[in-house]
Amino acid sequence: MSSENKSKIFVARNIPDAGLDLIRGACDADIWLEPLPPSRDVLLEAIAGCEGVISLLTERVDSEFFEAAGQQLKVVSNYAVGFNNIDVAEATRRGIRVGNTPGVLTDATADMAFTLLIATARRIVEAADYVRNGEWKTWEPRGHIGMDLCNKTIGIVGMGRIGFAMAKRCRGGWGMDVLYHDQFQNEDAETQLAARRVDLDTLLSESDFVSVHVDLNETTTGMFDAGAFERMKSTAIFINSARGPLHVGQDLFDALASGKIFAAGLDVTDPEPILDNDPLLSLPNCLVVPHIASGTVSSRNGMAEIAANNLLAGLADQPLPCWVNPEVDGSP
Ligand code: DGY
Repeated sequence: MSSENKSKIFVARNIPDAGLDLIRGACDADIWLEPLPPSRDVLLEAIAGCEGVISLLTERVDSEFFEAAGQQLKVVSNYAVGFNNIDVAEATRRGIRVGNTPGVLTDATADMAFTLLIATARRIVEAADYVRNGEWKTWEPRGHIGMDLCNKTIGIVGMGRIGFAMAKRCRGGWGMDVLYHDQFQNEDAETQLAARRVDLDTLLSESDFVSVHVDLNETTTGMFDAGAFERMKSTAIFINSARGPLHVGQDLFDALASGKIFAAGLDVTDPEPILDNDPLLSLPNCLVVPHIASGTVSSRNGMAEIAANNLLAGLADQPLPCWVNPEVDGSP
């Protein structure tokens, strides 16, 4: 088939071949290969006339985006499980299908949340820096004392797939009690992990560690603010592997710097990348990594495959395998 007969699509970054191989032959594909995302202007120009786009968290998909693409746009396939970068209501209003990539990154993300927990509890980065800086002179009976993990209480905010996977690690491996806060009851968590659903205040005050796994939306933005950190134990550790704007950076800094809480582990920040002069980076008890929770081979390949299959289904006016707005029906 000549490229004239193929759907014009734009892929906003060099995603794994597991996905690109599925679409290269089937579409007239323009793939952005630069390490940094396209600027807004370049993006809006690149999507003009496209029937499909594979977007990332870095692309704001809103009215301006849809206008720039044009009326032939059928599908936006997000290379992520989260889709807070997309105005889904606007996409739905325009009859544009939106896809995401759930499931394949659940374990990788829970592993990262747990990695951040154990690393902050045992002050691993501080200790490694101590060695690198040549400060290690002897075995220190009172040096580098961290927190125990076994038999503590984990508080999971958002008991969806990833929250459940994190709770499972904490319960199964470390014998922790599990508290959770969620708008929905999770019976599997209650029966398999003896999890107890509580209100947020109870979770914050009774948990030794708090790990957040909710979507970012108008209700959850800034939910971890000074008031939330105030309620937590002074020995508590806060883990965010979901979205940066769920916590208020300045309030987290104040809580960590004043010893209101013990430590924080962040895979996500606001903005991303975090600014070089963000005060959180000056704290020994704040561990920040660059949004890498889904960064394993199987997870990223799985995301690429799903994103490609969502795109191809959308181009064919078919239901998407992972469809965020199924209320956009199958009719062209
Ligand atoms: C997601 O998928 O939403 C992650 O944040 C990136 O993998």
